[in-house]
Amino acid sequence: MSQIYYEFEKLYHLPPDAVCFAPGRVNLIGEHTDYNGGNVLPIAIHLGIRCAAAVRHDRKLRFFSQSFPDCGMIECHLDELEKKGCWADYPISVIKTFSAFGYPIENGADFYFSSDLPDGAGMSSSAALEVAVGMMLSKLYSLPLTKQELALIGQFAENRFIGVNCGIMDQFASAMGKKDHAILLNAHTLSYQYVPLENACLVIVNSGVKHSLASSAYNDRQRECETARKLLKVPTLCSLSREEFDKRSDSLTDDICHRRARHVVYENMRTIDAANALKSGDLRTFGKLMNDSHRSLRDDYEVSCEELDFLVHTAQNIHGVYGSRMTGGGFGGCTVNLIEKSAEDDFIRLIKQEYRKHFHITPDVYSVTVSDGAGFLGT
Ligand code: GLA
Repeated sequence: MSQIYYEFEKLYHLPPDAVCFAPGRVNLIGEHTDYNGGNVLPIAIHLGIRCAAAVRHDRKLRFFSQSFPDCGMIECHLDELEKKGCWADYPISVIKTFSAFGYPIENGADFYFSSDLPDGAGMSSSAALEVAVGMMLSKLYSLPLTKQELALIGQFAENRFIGVNCGIMDQFASAMGKKDHAILLNAHTLSYQYVPLENACLVIVNSGVKHSLASSAYNDRQRECETARKLLKVPTLCSLSREEFDKRSDSLTDDICHRRARHVVYENMRTIDAANALKSGDLRTFGKLMNDSHRSLRDDYEVSCEELDFLVHTAQNIHGVYGSRMTGGGFGGCTVNLIEKSAEDDFIRLIKQEYRKHFHITPDVYSVTVSDGAGFLGT
């Protein structure tokens, strides 16, 4: 029986009705393409959020997270679903979204969360939280929702109620991940396929940098892309091939707009090329595309930072590394490194050593296992 079962019981004096787990994600390639109608290639990882919950007989909601013990137990009422200005805004926003989508929640519930995902590191702890809450609500109230719908609900909650205009990648990966496979997802059509990922290991290095303005800078990038899309007169930036973009890019006289759009179009194509390389087991080509992706995020999209650039540059010069890039929204967070299995230990030692020498802090490093998406755990 999982530990969270007992922790729930200790706090609420009743056993939970169900326990679920929603993983974090790491994106291998296809960055800032999802909200431009393009392709992404994320994986779900073994780290994530556990949620235990039980239905109540009244309309009260109670939330407790082991990650934020100082916030204590947060209470609210189904008839007054106001944001609280803390982590509980995520579950509250998902509950509001259920109502907005025509799935009213009649009874209250008690929730308990525990997480082994580093907060603010760019491994999508917020998407995992949204998906965990969605899974739990569908179970507690017997609502017939698919995992894809839960991903869309999570994204809607974040867009509408949290105020970050994120794409669908993070929630989709958390809900739909598959052990030992990457997900090639077209964020426009939501069509997807699983691509086996084998014979290499993935190591995540956390720069420890958290950019406080990351969400507003993210929304700025979206606006810049939208301006470019209108000037190019296309339904989405990712509907253009590289060649079409190069032919039409004269209409983008503003340098920033031009570079943002170039990143998106080229990154989208790189993602398809990378998925094809993975399918044919060509890890060298895959790694090279990861390196190209980083360069483009750094120079054209300008969402990297000194620490991420240092980690990537250092990694790319370590023996046995196929490729290295920043992953996620950027402005801090993590790098993802694809490495030959036999080189993993040396890589971890060297990357820690170099980062410590340069920035005087030891980065957290995670060897990740490619895992299944959200599911229920036996209680
Ligand atoms: C964040 C968003 C995703 C995606 C990435 C950048 O993680 O939540 O939807 O846009 O940034 O690729």
